[in-house]
Amino acid sequence: MSSGDTLVEVKDLKVEFDVREGIIKAVDGLSLTVKRGRTLGVIGESGCGKSMTARAILNMVPKPGKITGGEILYYRQVGGNGKPLITDVINITKLDPDGELIRQIRGGEIGMIFQEPMSSLTPVYTAGTHINEAVTLHRLIPIRKVGDQLVETIQAHRKVSKQEAREIAIEMLRKVGIPKPEQRVDAYPHQLSGGQRQRVMIAVALSCEPKMLIADEPTTALDVSIEAQILDLMRELQETVDMAIMFITHNLGVIAEMAEEIVVMYMGKQVEQASAVELFYEPQHPYTRALLQSIPHVGKKSRQRLASIAGMVPDPFHLPPGCVFHPRCSSFMPGKCDVIVPGWKQIGPNHWVRCLLYEEV
Ligand SMILES: Nc1ncnc2c1ncn2[C@@H]1O[C@H](COP(=O)(O)OP(=O)(O)OP(=O)(O)O)[C@@H](O)[C@H]1O
Ligand SMILES: [Mg+2]
Repeated sequence: MSSGDTLVEVKDLKVEFDVREGIIKAVDGLSLTVKRGRTLGVIGESGCGKSMTARAILNMVPKPGKITGGEILYYRQVGGNGKPLITDVINITKLDPDGELIRQIRGGEIGMIFQEPMSSLTPVYTAGTHINEAVTLHRLIPIRKVGDQLVETIQAHRKVSKQEAREIAIEMLRKVGIPKPEQRVDAYPHQLSGGQRQRVMIAVALSCEPKMLIADEPTTALDVSIEAQILDLMRELQETVDMAIMFITHNLGVIAEMAEEIVVMYMGKQVEQASAVELFYEPQHPYTRALLQSIPHVGKKSRQRLASIAGMVPDPFHLPPGCVFHPRCSSFMPGKCDVIVPGWKQIGPNHWVRCLLYEEV
């Protein structure tokens, strides 16, 4: 891969929560690369650090969480339109989380659809937050019309008149499956259903035409036909504006359909990474195998969620020694897995795994 393909590179990222009982390592040394125009899927059980990774990329880890290590490099291309294209490398972890630069990036270059549609409707922005930023972070503002929020976002990122922006807004609402968009464009968020608000937020995120979209369980609350429509829309935009997607979901059918490459996370670390096809057909880590166990037909539209795995996720304050997965692992090797911490090992041209089964020790 040439470095020109890289859009975002996460290197040895650590996110910690300092709470009364101790320190929770929500993300513990994660590294991954998001390529321009491609889709990276992220899967793993609840609590493994998917959302915190996503938020760290926008330097938006909620308190008391903090990025405590590693770097997130954003390869930002400037120029074009006749001018030479230059790539600036920005370390997002070093930016002031309220500063101008990260706001520009969050505002339109990296968009995010948050996991919880209801809580994203709470206006938690502070006096210092620009209204544009609040909208583009996909918290609809309850007292403002849906259309105004969309128009403002569109105008902030594209050179169009207000009338043109309104037409684009209506078209976007239509594309995300909002019925009667010519009328709904003048509705307030509270006049819409929860699922419609989620779709409006998706419309806001996509109308910025971001270089990267972070989609954290974006369609979980929607019904299947609307979900399919939105996934199509994401793919369409991916082609027209070369948008990269980081797609987080528990839905195996969706991940099989959307992602080219998949990262599997457990307890804040990636335990396996491969192309989607290889991961589904030849999973190597016992954790991945257990997660994928119940998959009926890959590629077939299904609402199949990741399987639940026997045993409990360990207490973050008392992590097991050796491989943190060993107490639940079907391939547990006593004297080895409970002693040695596995490394990140390449086992194929595009396949990595963190498991002692693949290490000579
Ligand atoms: N506000 C908080 N205070 C303390 N710990 C937190 C807080 N938010 C998250 N964590 C810790 O960070 C870990 C990772 O959380 P994260 O939200 O990234 O999980 P996730 O993989 O997105 O899970 P899910 O699939 O349920 O969305 C959690 O297991 C929890 O231990
Ligand atoms: Mg999450």
